[in-house]
Amino acid sequence: MGVLRVKSVEQSISDTEAPEHRLRKDLSALDLTVFGIGVIVGTGIFVLTGRVARETAGPAVALSFVAAGIVCALAALCYAEFASTVPVAGSAYTFAFATLGELPAWIIGWDLTLEMMLGAAVVAVGWSGYLTSLLAALGVPLPGVIAGEGAVFNLPAALVVLLLTGILVLGIKLSSRFNLIIVTIKLAVILLVVVAGLFFVRGANYSPFVPPSKATPAVEGLAAPLIQVLFGITPVAYGVLGIFSAAAIVFFAYIGFDVVATAAEETRDPQRDLPIGILSSLGVCTVLYVAVSLVVVGMQPYRQLSEAAPLADAFKAVGQTWAAALISVGALVGLTAVVMILMLGMSRVMFAMCRDELLPSGLAKVHPKYRTPYVITIIMGGVVAALAGLVPLSTIAELVNIGTLFAFAVVSIAVVVLRRTRPDLPRSFRTPLVPLVPLLSVLACLYLMLNLPVETWIRFGAWMLLGLLIYAGYGYRHSRLSERRAATR
Ligand code: ALA
Repeated sequence: MGVLRVKSVEQSISDTEAPEHRLRKDLSALDLTVFGIGVIVGTGIFVLTGRVARETAGPAVALSFVAAGIVCALAALCYAEFASTVPVAGSAYTFAFATLGELPAWIIGWDLTLEMMLGAAVVAVGWSGYLTSLLAALGVPLPGVIAGEGAVFNLPAALVVLLLTGILVLGIKLSSRFNLIIVTIKLAVILLVVVAGLFFVRGANYSPFVPPSKATPAVEGLAAPLIQVLFGITPVAYGVLGIFSAAAIVFFAYIGFDVVATAAEETRDPQRDLPIGILSSLGVCTVLYVAVSLVVVGMQPYRQLSEAAPLADAFKAVGQTWAAALISVGALVGLTAVVMILMLGMSRVMFAMCRDELLPSGLAKVHPKYRTPYVITIIMGGVVAALAGLVPLSTIAELVNIGTLFAFAVVSIAVVVLRRTRPDLPRSFRTPLVPLVPLLSVLACLYLMLNLPVETWIRFGAWMLLGLLIYAGYGYRHSRLSERRAATR
């Protein structure tokens, strides 16, 4: 059937050699790890830690980070095998095309576009929030119409997106250097929190480490998690279940290691370096998250942690305003890198989709001098800037989570499929214990997805429906694969 036509791995790799579509191969394993850390450490640890500890997990939030880290590690092992076998821009999109067929690939590509486009917009809005509070502290408050919660158009968020789009067009090496500086600052701030924070930890704040569970006021209607609607489970906070509900939220903090795979074509030795980049960036972040969350809940009773800036405010609470200011600046700088790399990943996935002519191929043009896919980068940069300017932050993050979990599940299934259909392919990295690890990965992703609200599922469904309509109206007929088949017939 046409919609399940598969693009062979060899075909995917040879398409990357076409001169008009060739990207510059410049990145090493270290660059990729830095890239990964650059996009992973962001709003999740800087903002969500506080809210989740207060409302859902208590001091055991560190265990939620461990649980979410395990879900990601299962998926990362599957991503690593794929990235080492099919080192082509486009990440999960390309993997799905090589195994499950064109329509599943389109669905995943469309889904990843949602993840990264909205993710970039959300983090840009968060960035604008930090900027606004920092400027206010310096005595330069921004007018409410252009910044803050009630803004008509969030100007700083839109401007930072446009600036980063310009950097991405100028070239990946520049972007990766820029990223290295930012990641260094971000890591320094995180280490500052852990090391300086240790001096203010009080044992009493850890007791009880897992607060006794208690029923929360029932969340009704569309805001209720799907698992509750389906199985009639009463929502609880704290306790062991609370640790897992919190894991579904702090999952956001890990999003980004999958984006490393989108830089495959720009990697010098992708078979070796991609698995290293994916697994080591995830490993480093897990250790940092557990350390930071343990320290922060040790510094302040969990019920007193702040919602907007828990790391900085924990230092304010113990009278260390200098550290609080440094952390705010670091968060501001750090979030810049997250926005930039999410946009980089997004443009690479769309680049791959345009190259396959599921979207107009003119969009995949590479700049003659900078060798970056500038057309699609500029168009999408404009879309993200508009979204960041107009869309409020709140529930969009959950849409990002559902989209990402869906992609993880599909990649995990695809690893098993490719082992069956193409056992001959050289795999420099092999997922251990296939099919057990991919199966556990799918189940873990589904469990976290069920913990997301019904309205998130509805929005996700609407986006997917739109994608299917575009595929039916354009991609199915224009697909490069269908043209090739017709030519060889
Ligand atoms: N993981 C990224 C963050 O926490 C998306 O901001």
